[in-house]
Amino acid sequence: MFAGIASRYDLLNHVLSGNIDKRWRRTLAEKLFATLPDVGTGRVTFLDVACGTGDLSFQLHQGQPGKVIGIDFCRPMLQIAKSKARAQQIELPFVEGDALNLPFADGSFTAVTIAFGLRNLSSVEGGFKELFRVLKPGGRIAVLEFSKPVVPVLRSTFKFYFAKILPFLGGLMSGSRSAYEYLPDSVQHFPDQAELAALMNDSGFVEVSFENLTGGIAALHFGTRPR
Ligand SMILES: C[S@@+](CC[C@H](N)C(=O)[O-])C[C@H]1O[C@@H](n2cnc3c(N)ncnc32)[C@H](O)[C@@H]1O
Repeated sequence: MFAGIASRYDLLNHVLSGNIDKRWRRTLAEKLFATLPDVGTGRVTFLDVACGTGDLSFQLHQGQPGKVIGIDFCRPMLQIAKSKARAQQIELPFVEGDALNLPFADGSFTAVTIAFGLRNLSSVEGGFKELFRVLKPGGRIAVLEFSKPVVPVLRSTFKFYFAKILPFLGGLMSGSRSAYEYLPDSVQHFPDQAELAALMNDSGFVEVSFENLTGGIAALHFGTRPR
């Protein structure tokens, strides 16, 4: 599905979200950096899982150049990430691999991130298990994902936009209506803010917290692998 929409993915993200997606990724990076005391020393390493076309990886790279790897299992998405890196003359490795079987040793990274990726894994628990495994003890996880709007009026407007307008516009612009029908469907079946936090706790993460972004249209969850 992602291979089919890769060439239009960035454009659609920005148009369909009114560019808010950029702000959400920037917020993730800023908040994550703020919780990592070693940022700026060159000792921190980041893995951006399900990186797609790399927008979050680039955001992380801006704050911590040379310390970020992006990984995704969809080659056409990675090809776009790589061509964006080349165009900006940025050294940022984008590797092909499965989030459920990451090709990295235990305890490899100071921080792992996953933006709009967890919902697409065939097992959320399996994803958390792998993200936990590749984190160093004391390392941080940041999850950015669509969630459940907390303001009633926003909830109904968002539901209408997501269920009716987005599949139409997304289908028209990408040529794949099914991908943009899958999107609201997958969000509807994804755990809400508190449920996702509970799943993170069940997966072994501690200091789990979350904050709503844009009234809960998206949420940002953080956690720590215990020392
Ligand atoms: C909605 S995109 C998100 C891309 C990017 N993180 C962003 O913020 O725009 C979801 C990505 O998850 C990737 N993905 C889904 N399941 C995966 C898996 N098991 N392993 C690696 N990548 C996966 C897809 O290939 C796709 O690029």
